[in-house]
Order: sequence, then structure tokens, then C-alpha cells
Amino acid sequence: MTANIPKPESLPFIIEAADIMNRLPKQFFASLVQNVNREIAAGHDVINLGQGNPDRPTPAHIVQAAQAAAANPLYHKYSPFTGHRFLKEAVAQRYKEDYGVVLDPDTEVAILFGGKTGLVQISQILLNPGDLCLVPDPGYPDYWSGAALAGAQMSFMPLLRDNDFLPDFGSVSPLDRKRAKLMFLNYPNNPTGATAPLSFYEDTVAFAAKHGIVVASDFAYGAIGFDGKRPVSFLQAEGAKEVGVEYYTLSKTYNMAGWRVGFALGNKKIISLINLLQDHIYVSLFGAIQEAAAVALTATQQNVADLVATYEHRRNTLFDALSEIGWKADRPKGSFFTWLPVPKPWDSALFAQKLLEEAKVAVAPGIGFGEHGEGYVRVGLLSEPERLREAVRRIGKLGLF
Ligand SMILES: Cc1ncc(COP(=O)(O)O)c(C=O)c1O
Repeated sequence: MTANIPKPESLPFIIEAADIMNRLPKQFFASLVQNVNREIAAGHDVINLGQGNPDRPTPAHIVQAAQAAAANPLYHKYSPFTGHRFLKEAVAQRYKEDYGVVLDPDTEVAILFGGKTGLVQISQILLNPGDLCLVPDPGYPDYWSGAALAGAQMSFMPLLRDNDFLPDFGSVSPLDRKRAKLMFLNYPNNPTGATAPLSFYEDTVAFAAKHGIVVASDFAYGAIGFDGKRPVSFLQAEGAKEVGVEYYTLSKTYNMAGWRVGFALGNKKIISLINLLQDHIYVSLFGAIQEAAAVALTATQQNVADLVATYEHRRNTLFDALSEIGWKADRPKGSFFTWLPVPKPWDSALFAQKLLEEAKVAVAPGIGFGEHGEGYVRVGLLSEPERLREAVRRIGKLGLF
């Protein structure tokens, strides 16, 4: 018997998590998922508008590329640690065509296991315990997770309707400007559906450069802009590459959420730090997935245009139905989310609970995205128009508007 095997009398063996695990924020939406599942298990026809999971399949030409590539013995070996060059070239080509942004595939592109991974990593790469990062409120909760894992602090930048859901850098306190090392931005925005003009990114670059704050632009919904307007990339702003990186993902643009392919693009130093950290944790994605991802980025983009048209049609259907029941809200300019004000006297969590219990419609309460999300619910456009109409019809019957 070796010395470190516990003797029977020392059982039960207690496993204690490292402190870092206790610092992780609570997953607010886990309880929402449970509630929805409980209603479904009870036999109710729940219309789930609370999630952000694309409902359409990946386009067939991408799936076929992966199927064929899976048979290539080259891909059965370890991939190059920083991924295949052809994939980095493919994303550089897409950025050139769509945004006029020139990227060096070797030094300005890092391949990620989805955007989420990168958005958590960036805090580990740049923040020491006690450092400050600026985070949008409401915002995508994974920014909080990364900050927590790094032991960093957060200062929240309110996104208010009066300012088109853009942060007001003028209201960041002098102390926070000085302390902050990293700032997260996300347009088209989850959860508000707002987009950002180029002038906002120009102001961002100036603010970031002046105060030495790295910008992490989360462009997860970069392809999804409505009313004929393509969303602007942060990297289109002059000097953006000097101060930050952009995160791009195939999850939404090509309905590839399950494939886990994303990129960090821009600042060379940050890209090299990402690659260094990843060297210690991962070997890059399965080569067949990389090949299919490159096909997604370089083949016809008609599927993307069709997908955007699908979401826009759903948005219009939803808003026509909302106006019929007297629920007034602003139409989103991008992403596949709508951000709807909660009627008085409800708060967002109780209102969402009421809709689930009485209308069997699931929505995401705004408070789950931060304090300034209170007063709203997030409704996704990830269901067919007839389901969206049916959801609004059911809500209308509650007579709340
Ligand atoms: C704002 C935002 N950023 C990033 C992501 C991450 O996407 P993925 O990890 O699938 O690339 C999501 C996914 O829902 C998101 O909503």
C-alpha cells in the first residue's frame, strides 16, 4: 500500500474546490432552463423565446465539406498548435471583403474553440488579480466569468436607451479610467439588439488609447444587421488594431454553434498572448472542422444573406403582432434578439415567470444581464413566424398591456 491512499477510517474523502471556483458568478439562466423544462415535462406546449441557440441547420455545403475532410488522414494527427494557415487566410479574406479590413493571417489571427472561450481567456491574458475591466450592463454574462477567473474587478458601463444602448465614456469615473486595463464591447448587442456606428468606434479608439485600456470587441452577431445595413466592425476604425482585438464566431453567421469555431483578430501582441496561452491548454481544432470552417468563410455567402432575411422577416412579424396587443418596443437593428420593456408594475423576473406559467412562453428576464437590464425582457427571433405570432397571441390574452 502506498502512503497517500487514504485508510478506510479517513473516509469520506473530502474534495475541496479551489477558491477560484467559488468566485465564479452564478449562472442566472440555469434556473430559467429548469423552469422551462419543468413546464415541458408537465406536458405543456412551451414556446421558448428565452434562448440564443440558432434554430436552423448549418448549410449543407459546409456539412459536406466536413464529412469529406473527416476522411483525410492528415487531420487524424494533431493539428498545428495555432491551427491551419488556410483557415486564418479564410477569415482574413472574409474581413477584407466584408469590412475592408486587412489582417495578416500569421500574426493578427488566432483560432479559438468558439468566441466564448476567447472572451473568457482575454481576462486571464491581460488582468492580474485586483485589476479592473469595464463591462457593459446589460451584457453577455461570460465577460463576468473571465473577470472572476482572473480575480479581476468589474466596473459596469450602463447601456441606456437614451444613448442608443451605447456606453457613455464621459461617465466613466476618473479613477476607473485610470485603473481599467480592459473593456468589453458587443455590437450588434446581446441583449438589446442595438448596433454601433463607426463614429462610436472612433471615439472608443481615442478613449482606449488615451487611458491605456485594451478593447475586446465581441462581434458575435457581426453578420446580422437589418434594414439593409451591414453592422460595422470595430476594426474598421482607424487605430483599432493598436488598442484591441475583435472576436468573431461562426456560431451565428453560419448556424454553427455546435462546431465551436471562433477567432480573435487584430492586435499582434494580444494574438501572440492568446496563442501562447492556448499552447499550454489545447491543441487546435479538429482539422476537418477547420476545413469546413474555411469553406463556410470562402464559399458563397448567399446563405448568410438568406439567414439575415429570415431573422428580419421574423422581427417584422413579431413587431406587427406586438403592436396588435399594444406592446410598444423599439425594433432591433441587429443580432437575433429583441429587447422589450416590461409593463408596470412587474419586474423582469416576475414578468417572465408569469409569461411562462400563464402563457407558456419563455423569455429571458433582463435582470439576468445586469442591473440595467431590469425593466426589459429579451425575446429571441429563433422560432418560425407562426410560433412568434402564437406566443404574442397567448401573451395578449393575459391583458397586461
Ligand atoms: C454576445 C455573445 N458573445 C459571444 C457568444 C459566444 O458564441 P460562441 O462561443 O458560440 O462563439 C455569444 C453566444 O451566445 C454571445 O451571445
